[in-house]
Amino acid sequence: MPGFVKVTKLSGLKENAPSGFEVNKVKFLLVKLNGKVYAMNSVCTHAGGPLEKGTCENGNILCPWHKSEFKVTDGSVARGPAIKPEQTYKVNVVGDDVLVEL
Ligand code: FES
Repeated sequence: MPGFVKVTKLSGLKENAPSGFEVNKVKFLLVKLNGKVYAMNSVCTHAGGPLEKGTCENGNILCPWHKSEFKVTDGSVARGPAIKPEQTYKVNVVGDDVLVEL
């Protein structure tokens, strides 16, 4: 699968709880939502907050610094103060391996 990097094991991810990773200097989070895995850049577009340390509620990642919310499915802003969406990445699950296209 060209372009995809093996990141972690599916069995190691918890539902509705973001986990932070860094590959090739890209900081991103993985979150499992209703059994599906999503990947999003984890540097908040508002002021650089660590989204991987936030929470996942109602399908949104909440920034721990000023509570901006980003939709897990497409990175769009669900609530400010952030106005710029987060970059999201394609995820492929092969067996128990989670691969991300960065
Ligand atoms: S740094 Fe994330 S909302 Fe401000």
